[in-house]
Amino acid sequence: MKAIILCAGKGTRLRPLTFTSAKQLIPVANKPVILYSIEKIKEAGINEIGMIVNTENIQAFQETLGDGSNFGAKLSYIIQADPKGLAHAVSTAKDFLDGEPFLMYLGDNLIQENLVTFVKDFEKEKLNASILLTPVDDPSRFGVAVVNGNTISRVVEKPQNPPSNLAIIGVYIFDSSIFDGIANIKPSWRGEYEITDAIQYLIEHNYKVQGHIIYGWWKDTGRPEDLLEANRRILENVKHSKKMGVINGGTKIEGHIVIEEGVEIVNSVIRGPVSIDQNSTIINSYIGPYTSIGKNVIIENAEVENSILLENAVVRNVGVRIDASIIGKNANVSSIDKKPKVHNFIIGDYSSIKLG
Ligand code: DAU
Repeated sequence: MKAIILCAGKGTRLRPLTFTSAKQLIPVANKPVILYSIEKIKEAGINEIGMIVNTENIQAFQETLGDGSNFGAKLSYIIQADPKGLAHAVSTAKDFLDGEPFLMYLGDNLIQENLVTFVKDFEKEKLNASILLTPVDDPSRFGVAVVNGNTISRVVEKPQNPPSNLAIIGVYIFDSSIFDGIANIKPSWRGEYEITDAIQYLIEHNYKVQGHIIYGWWKDTGRPEDLLEANRRILENVKHSKKMGVINGGTKIEGHIVIEEGVEIVNSVIRGPVSIDQNSTIINSYIGPYTSIGKNVIIENAEVENSILLENAVVRNVGVRIDASIIGKNANVSSIDKKPKVHNFIIGDYSSIKLG
């Protein structure tokens, strides 16, 4: 079985971060979201993966992931020039899939569950489609399925009146019959070729379509608050303290933390879970729980918690604690000690600043 990971969307809800990177490459606990998905796929015994990307983000993916050999996968890059929907994305991978059954994974999803039995059941029961589902409180934000035992009797995309609380969570397995479904759908109200509609076609034409319900943690990381929650969840499981950097005597470290090589911490309090990537410097600061600090970050005279700082960010002389924030690559947050007291901003398009 092969896999495809869909990463060709525009990521509009994560602007401005997605102006310079794809949302699936944003790190959570200092590892790009996409790598968690690749690990899950590999764990299920699948090594050959088609990355569906667009013309703008392909370079960033290739620079980050290469051909996959560093992590034991064989990656191919497939361009979906215009993201016209998930079903359209699957069509662009038709040659790569070459008639084989395949696992389809939405690149911005993070799941806790392993996919081994999901794949095994699909093969054992000779299904045409199998879909991961999970109960949610707000089903109208998702594709929703109605099940009868394991069999899915109906699927509908983002319904106003959800017929069940079972959300489609963005991991599917199909055989080549999905291409019959895709050939027979029209764009939805949001102008997209929906994979949900192609699945509904299979159901109506008596193909074997089953649901696989999971109850573990799952997150669609499409919004900033989702990324922060994913960051908290993953840091919660940071078990081992790894202290590879230089930690000065005045520093106090509590709880689980990961400190990579070249990190320097001077006269600061670090309260885990916290992950600090290579060559970052923390001076006279407090780093609170659920904070991920990327490579080459400088934090000086500041307090930061429950936040994600991407590489080369600088936070200096900030008098109020920074909380629930995502600070992008090369961004600089600092205060100037001059009169009159003013705010001085150069903020990228679609940025969001909330002053306390
Ligand atoms: O998150 C789960 C939901 O994902 C499901 O419940 C829905 O049934 C499913 O349609 C999908 O809905 P979203 O509106 O959240 O999908 P989104 O546009 O965020 O795209 C999901 C991923 O697929 C994302 O990584 C970008 C990629 N994508 C998206 C489109 C529209 C593509 O690769 N090509 C595309 O044309």
